[in-house]
Amino acid sequence: MSISSFLTKKFLKSLFFPAHNRGRALPKKLIKLLNHPPGQWDLPELPEIGSPLSQSGLIAKSQREFSERFKTKGCFFGVNGASGLIQSAVIAMANPGEIILMPRNVHISVIKTCAMQNIIPIFFDLETSKETGHYKPITKNWLENVFKKISFNNEKIAGVILVSPSYHGYAGDLDPLIDICHQKNLPVLVDEAHGSYFLFCEDQDLPKSALLSNADLVVHSLHKSLNGLTQTAVLWYKGDLVNENNLTKSINLLQTTSPSSLLLSSCEESIKDWLNKKSLSKYQKRVLEAKSIYKKLIKKNVPLIETQDPLKIILNTSNEGIDGFTADHFFYKNGLIAELPEMMTLTFCLGFANQRDFVDLFEKLWNKLLFNSKKYKNLKNLKVLQSPFKLVQAPEIEIGIAWRSKNRSIPFSQSLNKISGDIVCPYPPGIPLLVPGEKIDRERFNWIKNQSIYNKDLVNFNIRVL
Ligand SMILES: Cc1ncc(COP(=O)(O)O)c(C=O)c1O
Repeated sequence: MSISSFLTKKFLKSLFFPAHNRGRALPKKLIKLLNHPPGQWDLPELPEIGSPLSQSGLIAKSQREFSERFKTKGCFFGVNGASGLIQSAVIAMANPGEIILMPRNVHISVIKTCAMQNIIPIFFDLETSKETGHYKPITKNWLENVFKKISFNNEKIAGVILVSPSYHGYAGDLDPLIDICHQKNLPVLVDEAHGSYFLFCEDQDLPKSALLSNADLVVHSLHKSLNGLTQTAVLWYKGDLVNENNLTKSINLLQTTSPSSLLLSSCEESIKDWLNKKSLSKYQKRVLEAKSIYKKLIKKNVPLIETQDPLKIILNTSNEGIDGFTADHFFYKNGLIAELPEMMTLTFCLGFANQRDFVDLFEKLWNKLLFNSKKYKNLKNLKVLQSPFKLVQAPEIEIGIAWRSKNRSIPFSQSLNKISGDIVCPYPPGIPLLVPGEKIDRERFNWIKNQSIYNKDLVNFNIRVL
């Protein structure tokens, strides 16, 4: 089967990213564009259009308007996902050899950039849920303790990265965290890949957008948390702590010379759509519907985990002794395609289309799974694994050096006490379990090995070690 034939495959329910739900929630203007003769809209960087870094043209105009609307210093569309813009932001924040403080649930795009530039990641651990193993949002006290624990020369710290909300939708109060960093003159990049729509829903009891919380750089994944096409993203820039010239230079460094006009138009339309009163109220209704879906399922005794993002429905499969991967397989076979299977849970993304039939379908399948649960129950002890991380930790060897050092590929089972030259990172969610330069000590080794019981990505894999 060709890729193109697969792309039209129908599923009973697509509960994964992109959040436009297979076109059903795309902005009307984009649908209109796609209805023109196929390919007509695929234009090069004509002077009238320009690029995200031009001073003139339609893209520059649109970015300027959005920037003014949200009182930022700059807005840049991106066509290589939030990943691409996060990478540019990281390069703009730190020079090779400088330090960036980041949480353990940082996205792999950050680690790749650190390896490329030899920017030193200092990781801080986060509290995890005893029930699910999910990373919880960081609190002010926690961040203060992290700073107290840092024993190295503060001057080399170039910035801080925060991930909010997390993949599952956990989010805390960003204001005090950003304040702490700003008091130390440190710029803050907030990876808000999963929370773009918070910016437009101030009165809906959702987390406050990082953009309204004085973050210096904010990256939104427009296909994950607005209704953009896959790969669309936007970077917002504020404050005086990041040099604008560094920022545009690093966007330019990683940007293709031929950004897709369709994707750029999708960046524009997905943001405009949420600024349009009529469509905004439709999406706000979706958010309310999502909240009511959660409540209805809870009433029906479906074990769900609550986060701050109502669009994520997180099923606690471990409640019934079933791991999230096995449950995922079951739902997939029955046409309900989820986004994120994990050991204890399975996460579904509602997206922005109407999900009227979701509750009934979901309940039916969940009951079917329970009815056959003997077949699916995990006899191996299903329990949250103890995280192997210290509160503050840096790789034993500089990441860029480890990445570039001579290495050899060996089975993970033989890697105990070696130094990793590799990134070990199941996707989704794209959160590294091990980065180049880190030692595979007994705790880390066991932690990864125990995850491989459930996670196919980690079965019999090879790892490059120094
Ligand atoms: C927290 C987080 N940040 C960034 C990204 C990258 O987003 P994109 O797929 O738009 O490149 C992801 C993707 O999974 C993510 O989960």
